Amino acid sequence: MAELNILEFPDPRLKVMAKTVESFDAALKKLVADMTETMYSANGIGLAATQVNVHKRLLVLDVSENHDQPCVYINPQILDRSGEQISEEGCLSVPGIYANVKRAENVTVKAQDADGNFFEERLEGLHAVCVQHEMDHLIGRLFVDYLSPLRRNMVKKKLEKQRKTAAQEAAEHLVI
Ligand code: NI
Repeated sequence: MAELNILEFPDPRLKVMAKTVESFDAALKKLVADMTETMYSANGIGLAATQVNVHKRLLVLDVSENHDQPCVYINPQILDRSGEQISEEGCLSVPGIYANVKRAENVTVKAQDADGNFFEERLEGLHAVCVQHEMDHLIGRLFVDYLSPLRRNMVKKKLEKQRKTAAQEAAEHLVI
């Protein structure tokens, strides 16, 4: 397994529309394993292929308390949504930024597993939020896109500042 590089906002590659997965081969299984490892090592609860610059309709997540129940959704589709919930979201591609986002409370998702088998699930709460957030990535949408242009611009500036500070600190220290 290998850890993958996660793209960060405002990288234009995060805007690319993902394509349907057609071959359920060994390369796909390796991608699923690598994405799962990358998600765990970054302390995330979900990761979409778009975030690792692979533009295929595929996402991994683990919303379990002990982080020991990884799930994969390939070619996911939302068949039905109901209710509303607002929760604070963050994103591995927008580090250190959190904002309230309104999503459906319940979603029925149809997807395929790594062998290509179809399954259908009715999700609620955090699991439903996570699938909706990751599916947004697959169509090039980030949670900050739900914010006003003014707030989104503030997020952009804050991230630029964070990166500059990190680069400066690395330059001033011996980073091995
Ligand atoms: Ni995200």
